Amino acid sequence: MSDSLENPQAKRLRFPPPRGFASHANADATLYAQASTDRLAFWAQQARDLLSWHKPFTRTLDWSQAPVAKWFDDGEINIAYNCLDRHVETGAGDRVAIHWEGEPGDSREITYAELTADVKKAANVLAGLGVGAGDRVAVYLPMIPEAVVTMLAIARLGAVHSVVFGGFSADSLRSRIDDAEAKVVVTADGGWRKGKVFALKPTVDAAIEEDGGAASVTNVLVVRRGENEVAWKEGRDIWWHDAMAAAETEHVAQGFPAEQPLFILYTSGTTGTPKGILHTSGGYLTQAAYTHKNVFDIKPETDVYWCTADVGWITGHTYVVYGPLANGATQLMFEGTPDAPHPGRWWELIEKYKVSILYTAPTAIRSFMKLGTAIPEKYDLSSIRLLGSVGEPINPAAWIWYRDVIGGGKAPIVDTWWQTETGAIMVSPLPGVTTLKPGSAQTPLPGIQIDILDDDGNHLEQGDAGLLVITEPWPSMLRGIWGNEERYKSAYWEKFGDKYFAGDGARIDDDGDLWLLGRVDDVMNVSGHRLSTAEIESALVSNNIVAEAAVVGAADETTGQAVVAFVILKSEFANDIEPADASATLRKHVADHIGAIARPAKIYIVAELPKTRSGKIMRRLLRDVAEGRPIGDTTTLTDPAVLSIIDAQVH
Ligand code: PRX
Repeated sequence: MSDSLENPQAKRLRFPPPRGFASHANADATLYAQASTDRLAFWAQQARDLLSWHKPFTRTLDWSQAPVAKWFDDGEINIAYNCLDRHVETGAGDRVAIHWEGEPGDSREITYAELTADVKKAANVLAGLGVGAGDRVAVYLPMIPEAVVTMLAIARLGAVHSVVFGGFSADSLRSRIDDAEAKVVVTADGGWRKGKVFALKPTVDAAIEEDGGAASVTNVLVVRRGENEVAWKEGRDIWWHDAMAAAETEHVAQGFPAEQPLFILYTSGTTGTPKGILHTSGGYLTQAAYTHKNVFDIKPETDVYWCTADVGWITGHTYVVYGPLANGATQLMFEGTPDAPHPGRWWELIEKYKVSILYTAPTAIRSFMKLGTAIPEKYDLSSIRLLGSVGEPINPAAWIWYRDVIGGGKAPIVDTWWQTETGAIMVSPLPGVTTLKPGSAQTPLPGIQIDILDDDGNHLEQGDAGLLVITEPWPSMLRGIWGNEERYKSAYWEKFGDKYFAGDGARIDDDGDLWLLGRVDDVMNVSGHRLSTAEIESALVSNNIVAEAAVVGAADETTGQAVVAFVILKSEFANDIEPADASATLRKHVADHIGAIARPAKIYIVAELPKTRSGKIMRRLLRDVAEGRPIGDTTTLTDPAVLSIIDAQVH
């Protein structure tokens, strides 16, 4: 970052809503008043106003089986109908739902009428493969329109999707397929990334063929995209285009109970096993639509909205698929990466499609910042009127750069705090209402209540850093961890009883604005993605040469945190393998085991790890080493000398 961009004043700057924005904004300050007068009535109103119900609900919240909430539970709804058919029925069938741009530069334009027709056919295809209400379908696809079609077709049947990000390995895919006992896998031959085709179907084959895994899978539906050679198992594998060509075109959406499971999405926790976060239908779609409308100020007739997240993450679920489509928005969907084939690709796309609302992650903004302003300045970004940020705290300097260089010095920025578990945005400014403060996610949305507590559950005064909790149930909250109710309770509810513990440290300032301070557990945040130290450690020790491993997230200028591992080799290998070779082997091992996103940035081969007398590895001290800081208090270590040895080895 250049000095001029590392703006120390940025934190103190304030940006009131631009003139003209507030008068046209979807949200106004009365939302806060309405929600605080009667929170449940407020949510019921949103559910009725924003969605079409097959059968109206009469009950808003049933919290009698806390912490498992039921929202709108005597109502019936079809999620796909809400995202598709109703827009066609009300005359928006010709509106573009998706402007899709492939990485090689091919493109498709899909209207609401076309998307509806495709989803109906896909629902018939899946039903023909035996998928019915409650069945699980795994989705392992690139960022192509078929990903959206598949998710909505599954939802239309009352079935449950489990989307697995295309960067995850065969092992990760298999454990997710097995955990959810998925009947069908929808994949592609391959997708485009950085000028090359990356294969997906072989990973699916490996996941479901090796060691008799994935016994639940009866069929694999394969979209042709990469045109790479793929192996074929007759009777099991089916080409998407063949099945779609033969499919019935009509499919009537049936209503399902509001609490019908909609999807499972796996995310990292503090143990070695990812958690299958379960979301259901009516409450989830209510908050997805409500936040998308008010936080992004969406005007379906005129805006072109672009959320850059992959559908494999929660941001892609809520703000590529469900929120925008429920609101009848027009959006851009892009298959590729920001820098291929050139570092101005995103800005070129904004110019080409006249994108007016951009939602992305601070890590992307920081990488662009490093490249300088000359690249975005080559493009006409004047269509941008609102910017969003998600995934990690956005540092004030990046915030200012984003606003100045991408937002033309005027676009409001909404810094949105939420999680896979919360399903939708929880804390964020409302554009047109909130005076913005760079670096702060600001205030809970109308309808959401939070608090900051100390470790013993006492409320903290403004200014004190503590633990972020959500004090009242919200419509899009997770309903559990798939197949593991105990873990749901212990991970989120044990610490503070009736309050949801988010795992984030935070502070509320004197104006009542929230500052997020990062995770307080052993979860890392790399480029806005959650990774578990325990999961990477267990991948490392699964390699035969490793005796012990400790993983920490070390601060990184671009990615927020970077994965750094400290590894002790088994004595029989320690003298025979060069540390650099061991490190290279193990980095690849982790990528093969979990996926490229988990590959450690650095692996240090060490002789010992710092431990307390009870044998606990002191990750805090290893983080000091990895970040090159003076090492903190070492008095609880069995052997404080270990650290200076590691430190000398690393630096
Ligand atoms: O630590 C918080 C951080 O990302 C975590 C949630 O990660 P995940 O479930 O993968 O969802 C990411 C996209 C919603 C949170 O516990 N986080 C997310 N948004 C922000 C954030 N930290 C600070 N500011 C944010 N805006």
